[in-house]
Amino acid sequence: MNETTTSFDHRVAVVTGAAGNIGLATCRMLCEAGVRVAAADLDAGVLEDRIAPLRERGFDIRAYAQDVSDRKATEAVFGKIIGDFGKIDILVNNAGVWVHRGGKGRQRFEEMDEAEIRRIVEINLFGVMHCMRAVLPHMAERGYGRIVNLGSIAGEVGLPGFSDYAACKAAVIRFTQTLAMENAKRGITVNSVSPGMILQKVVPHDGTWLGRTGAPEEVARAIVFLASDTAGYLTGVDVPVDGGRILGPRSVDF
Ligand SMILES: NC(=O)c1ccc[n+]([C@@H]2O[C@H](COP(=O)([O-])OP(=O)(O)OC[C@H]3O[C@@H](n4cnc5c(N)ncnc54)[C@H](O)[C@@H]3O)[C@@H](O)[C@H]2O)c1
Repeated sequence: MNETTTSFDHRVAVVTGAAGNIGLATCRMLCEAGVRVAAADLDAGVLEDRIAPLRERGFDIRAYAQDVSDRKATEAVFGKIIGDFGKIDILVNNAGVWVHRGGKGRQRFEEMDEAEIRRIVEINLFGVMHCMRAVLPHMAERGYGRIVNLGSIAGEVGLPGFSDYAACKAAVIRFTQTLAMENAKRGITVNSVSPGMILQKVVPHDGTWLGRTGAPEEVARAIVFLASDTAGYLTGVDVPVDGGRILGPRSVDF
C-alpha cells in the first residue's frame, strides 16, 4: 500500500441518496477506488439511469429502491444488500431533503407546516438513524465499519428560513460524535461531512472565503477519504467542505 493514498481492502459500500449530486459523485469515486457499491434512492428507475455509465465502465454497482424514512423497509433493503454482496463495510448516509413539499423556499419557523417539519425530520434525522440501526450490528459482528453522515453548514451555524433542516443537521453532527464514542471499541468509525453551498456548476459567490460555490466532487472526496481504510484514526469529526463559510461570512476583501 502506498501510505500517502486513500486505500480500500475489497470493501463494500452503501450510499443512500445515490441518485443525487453528491451521492452520485461519491458512488463514482468509490467505484474508481475499487469499492463495490450498493446505491440506494427513492426511485430505482431514475437511479438505474444515473449509475448506468458506471456499470458500462465495468464497476460492480447495483441499484436499490429505498425510502430511508421507513425503518422496516430500510432494514429489509440492508438485509438484501448483505445477501447480494456478502457484507457491508461502509455506509454513507447521504439521503436528505431541505425544501418543503410544493417547493416552498425560505419560511419563518412559525409559518412552517407541522406535517412538513415532521417529514424533514423523518428523512434527515430518522433516516440516518434507521440506516445506522440496520447496519451497526452487522459491522460490530465483523469488527469493521466506516460510517460517514452528511451534516451541513446549516447544522453548524444555522440557516434562516430552513430552521427544521438546520435542526436536523445539527442533530446529525452530535449523533455522529456520540455514535463514534459508542462504537470506537468495535472497529467502527463514525464521522460527518458538512457541505456549504454545493452546485453542479461552480459559480462565484461572495458568501464564502474562497469566493465561489463548491462542486459535488469536492464533497465526495472528503467522504471517500473518511470512508477509506486509511482514515482509521479519525472518528467523531465533522469536516466542513464549505469554502471557509464556517469561519463566518466573508467580511473583508483579502
Ligand atoms: N447541495 C448542498 O448545497 C448541500 C449543502 C449541505 C448539505 N447537503 C446535504 O448533502 C446531501 C446530498 O445533497 P445533494 O445536494 O446531493 O442533494 P440531492 O437532492 O441532489 O440528492 C439527495 C438525494 O436524496 C434522495 N432522497 C430524498 N429523500 C429520500 C428518502 N426518503 N429516502 C431515500 N432517498 C431520498 C433524493 O431522491 C436525492 O437523489 C443531503 O443530505 C444534503 O442535506 C447538501
